[in-house]
Amino acid sequence: MDRETARFISSIAEDERIFFEDLDGTEAHNIMLHDQGIITRDELRGILASLETLRSRKQKGDLEVSSEFEDIHEFIETYVIDEVGIQVGGKLHTGRSRNDQVALDVRMRVRTELNAVSERIINLIDSLLTGARKHLDCVMVLYTHNQPAQVGVFSHYLVAYADRLFRDLERLQDAYARVNTSPLGAGPIGGSSLPIDRSRTAFLLGFPELVENSIDAVSSRDFVLETVGHLAILMTGLSRIAEDFIIWSSAEVGYLEIADEYASTSSVMPQKRNPVPLELIRAKTGTVLGAHVSLLTMVKGLQTGYNIDLQETKPPVWKSFDAVNAAVEVLTGILTTLKVNARRMASVASASYAIAMDLAENLVLDTALSFREAHQLVGTLVKEALNAGRLPTDLTPTMVGDLAKRLLGKTIVIPDEVIQRVTDVRSCLSNRVTVGGSSSSEVKRMIPERRKRLRTHRKRVAARLNALEASRTVLRDTVHEYLSEGTTLR
Ligand code: ARG
Repeated sequence: MDRETARFISSIAEDERIFFEDLDGTEAHNIMLHDQGIITRDELRGILASLETLRSRKQKGDLEVSSEFEDIHEFIETYVIDEVGIQVGGKLHTGRSRNDQVALDVRMRVRTELNAVSERIINLIDSLLTGARKHLDCVMVLYTHNQPAQVGVFSHYLVAYADRLFRDLERLQDAYARVNTSPLGAGPIGGSSLPIDRSRTAFLLGFPELVENSIDAVSSRDFVLETVGHLAILMTGLSRIAEDFIIWSSAEVGYLEIADEYASTSSVMPQKRNPVPLELIRAKTGTVLGAHVSLLTMVKGLQTGYNIDLQETKPPVWKSFDAVNAAVEVLTGILTTLKVNARRMASVASASYAIAMDLAENLVLDTALSFREAHQLVGTLVKEALNAGRLPTDLTPTMVGDLAKRLLGKTIVIPDEVIQRVTDVRSCLSNRVTVGGSSSSEVKRMIPERRKRLRTHRKRVAARLNALEASRTVLRDTVHEYLSEGTTLR
């Protein structure tokens, strides 16, 4: 092939990420070929020995994978043939196609990546819950439309972030079950005439199930579409946390201070502390969303069956995992070192009229006003108070009573303590009674429940890792038994 073109069609660079997966898959396939009487024990030993040399050379960093190869599958097969000759090495690819092989490798790698990213998300949730515990009494304004909405506690936001991340974890866990199925043995599209045993290779590689239909097994990449889709959703969530922290750490707001390790300076303005890592979390979200769109676009027009367009689906997947891993890691660091300016938060909260809705609701509770009347009353009250430069704590029952008369033509009796109950931010919060709402007692109740869920998630990921490790051990032991002298195996 023409040199430029050869480079154009090569996937060697992105196949770096499936090198060991390809070795494992090839070893399992050849063990199965021997089990099925398709290759002899000596042939298997020759093939395994060569693959193991390749493995240790790669591990030692003593392997040059030339970009002249079309892909890693061709490279590995060529290596074995060069080492043990075509008579034996030429049997390695019996009953297999690169189409089922690459689908297998990608599934194996995505499996590993999903476990790693899930562990990172768990650590991020852990630091959110730790922060939530710590800042339970940290009163602040809650925002809608970037305007003061209600009073609440900072903790409540942190628990909200954790709750969203739990759903990300669950989505990824869901996807894992579908990724964790073996396409190996599907051949190019319609299977093989040789008596291969798909369940045996699936078992050796730790897959609980097959992608049964051979056409589906080589054609489909919905497992990466959904995985990257879930990563995209995860990133949009991280991006919003980043945006909250960017606003809250601005000089004007001053609620948060990003630790020095996570702030960067300006080359020219000496006073600057830019929240650059947070901005890049926001930007890398674009990268992952773009990756998702690329993937969907690559796949949408493909005739059912393998088309080499599918080769191009690998880089966006790797890129997405890289972006997500880095973003989750950096955000965890930012959270654990974050300085929270509770005083500033509290003073903004008590100077704001974010207690207005609570005041209206308390008028509903304690007077005969309907909610709409109370809403109008408090709305006007706040407007006039702001014009007169009055703080919520300056409000008196008389002011409210007079306004009710003037505005609504109603005489209402307002007990003194109603105004106090609401205008003092802390007492206002302790009167919030909604399940899942902002009172610190409610937030306090929510945290241990999340802790418990987090433990369950940790156990699930550990179980997945253990299952993979167990199958790896079986495969490693089988390979080593064949390679060691005096083997008891056939
Ligand atoms: N390099 C290819 C990929 O990454 C492997 C399969 C190629 N199959 C083929 N018939 N050319 O998808």
